[in-house]
Amino acid sequence: MTRDEIRQFLEFYQDLGVKTIYQRGSALQAEQLPDLVEDLNSLLPPLPAPKIIPKPPPAAPPAVSMKIVPPTLIPLAPEGDTMEAIRTDIGDCRRCRLCEGRNKIVFGSGNEGSRLVFVGEGPGADEDASGLPFVGRAGQLLTQMIEGTASKEGIQITRPDVYIANVVKCRPPENRTPMPDEMEICGQFLFRQLLAIKPKAICALGSTAAKALLGTKEGVTKLRGNWQKWHDIPVMVTYHPSYLLRPYNQNAKREAWEDLKKVLHFVYD
Ligand code: URA
Repeated sequence: MTRDEIRQFLEFYQDLGVKTIYQRGSALQAEQLPDLVEDLNSLLPPLPAPKIIPKPPPAAPPAVSMKIVPPTLIPLAPEGDTMEAIRTDIGDCRRCRLCEGRNKIVFGSGNEGSRLVFVGEGPGADEDASGLPFVGRAGQLLTQMIEGTASKEGIQITRPDVYIANVVKCRPPENRTPMPDEMEICGQFLFRQLLAIKPKAICALGSTAAKALLGTKEGVTKLRGNWQKWHDIPVMVTYHPSYLLRPYNQNAKREAWEDLKKVLHFVYD
């Protein structure tokens, strides 16, 4: 066996994932190779059976006349929609994978006739356990932001006066960001809630809420501070309270307070 043939043999085994060849003696002798190959063969898993790729079926003959069936368009909000009807429609929802890990569906809470709705991303552990939005640390900060700003600005509202909901109503595993299909499936219920409440303004907390409402990939830093629109309803995007809880985001905190002041004056003046 030539040196080249030996090299090809060894490269072949290397390609199969065999990294080390142990052998007795110091140097690999050409006459040892058949033994070595036999040893290796006994260690290697059998080669997989060749894959048989079925022939594709013959193409269907072109249709003489194609009947186009338009997709059934589900109206964004059925006529006379109510929060109760939306809750009933959600039921024990199994429409997406988020149902697998949830304890409670977090529908939303607050004044269903409110002039102001806050939209968050999705429930965390505390919300999943209680069934209520924004009750954990981020929620406590949100309450402080609403009530602190209102009181400083002489606006007589407390948290129960506004409505709070999320883009997705079930907790994403490990608090990950909701996936586009989850946002789309669950978003229809958020949209129905918003249309049923008909608030004077919406405050989108963080980029997931901004993306769901405005369909934009633009970050919060770019969007915040200026009014946007969702179905003719003014939308103010601001930082998510969880982001503001991080100690190095002092500037963002100040900006979020500015945004909230703008929102509260617009809605309640
Ligand atoms: N974060 C959210 O976006 N929503 C909640 O309800 C809680 C934390």
